Amino acid sequence: MQLSFATLIAFAAGAIGAPATTIENVVPRQAPGGCSSPVQLDAKTNVWTSYTLHPNSFYRAEVEAAAASMSSSDAAKALKVADIGTFLWADTIANIDRVEPALQGVPCNHIFGLVVYDLPGRDCAAKASNGELPVGAINRYKTEYIDKLAALIKKYSNTAFALVIEPDSLPNLVTNSNVAACQQSASGYREGVAYALKTLNLPNVVQYIDAGHGGWLGWNDNLQPGARELANAYKNAGSPSQFRGFATNVAGWNQWDAEPGEFASAPDAQWNKAQNEKKYVELFGAALASAGMPNHAIVDTGRSGKPGGRLEWGDWCNVVNTGFGKRPSSSTGSTLADAFVWVKPGGESDGTSDTTAVRYDSFCGKSDAFKPSPEAGQWHQAFFEQLLKNANPAF
Ligand code: BGC
Repeated sequence: MQLSFATLIAFAAGAIGAPATTIENVVPRQAPGGCSSPVQLDAKTNVWTSYTLHPNSFYRAEVEAAAASMSSSDAAKALKVADIGTFLWADTIANIDRVEPALQGVPCNHIFGLVVYDLPGRDCAAKASNGELPVGAINRYKTEYIDKLAALIKKYSNTAFALVIEPDSLPNLVTNSNVAACQQSASGYREGVAYALKTLNLPNVVQYIDAGHGGWLGWNDNLQPGARELANAYKNAGSPSQFRGFATNVAGWNQWDAEPGEFASAPDAQWNKAQNEKKYVELFGAALASAGMPNHAIVDTGRSGKPGGRLEWGDWCNVVNTGFGKRPSSSTGSTLADAFVWVKPGGESDGTSDTTAVRYDSFCGKSDAFKPSPEAGQWHQAFFEQLLKNANPAF
């Protein structure tokens, strides 16, 4: 049937001047995105067995831009990386604005990974990721950062969220208490982390607090103090119901279950039984249970595909000869490890190699650090291509 021009005009006019009974008024108002009703996560269970880590659109855009400058066969491989679930980092107050666009169209069986990372005096033992908030700006952290994230997560109550809380912060208080900046940051870190846990204790959230990695809190002498520090944060937050445990190897390079372990023949290896992340999860998990904290873990395997790049265990900056690692999965073979996840978006830099930059850290100048490298968080095309080339499993 052909409609006459006059009929079309009449339809259009009807649509524009539509009375109150539009679909919008008939269908009950829903929270945007995700599922058709509010999500309630049970943090006493492993939610990763029923949810897939969401491949977020922010990382997808980064990867697509990267692929655009590559040869067509490499680009085809690169584009597959965009389909891997990866966390999004809210690393400044302004970058909270990156989160909402990425929340559009998250399927109901996906869980959105979000890193909370903006403590006052951030990255107290290094320079590369020094943040925007100075020591003492705890009220700004609470009201301009955590409260805003909480409002967003409440607005998207139909979407499931997994949170990694403040990478490196409490581990720094355990092992770097001799560093003046860490001494100055300590009370703000403790107050800020507890506030984050308490305020973000929302039904659609499951929380993991950062616990460094086996080469950090895994040393015999660090296990108990580390567990106490994390457990105190959990208790100071009022033992939140949505708290599940700890995140390990965030932005790290450690292998999951390599035997005997990449640094097992180092001269000091006898003092550390956590020679791979699986052992670390088990040892630190046990220490946490004794300290009275829920002790299930997620492990960042995103850049652990190829060992051998680091000169020393503690080297963390854009390590050469590394590759993308195990894909996100809840099949870990360990009852304490809920899932392998990708937390650090592979291709974003760990820190600048420009020795004149304010945030230049000497670790980014070591011979096992890729050069040149841009500022932390900036896209690093050559490093992305390295991770792709050495990926295991391959893309
Ligand atoms: C940087 C952040 C960035 C994150 C993820 C950190 O090292 O300091 O700015 O968002 O890595 O790439």
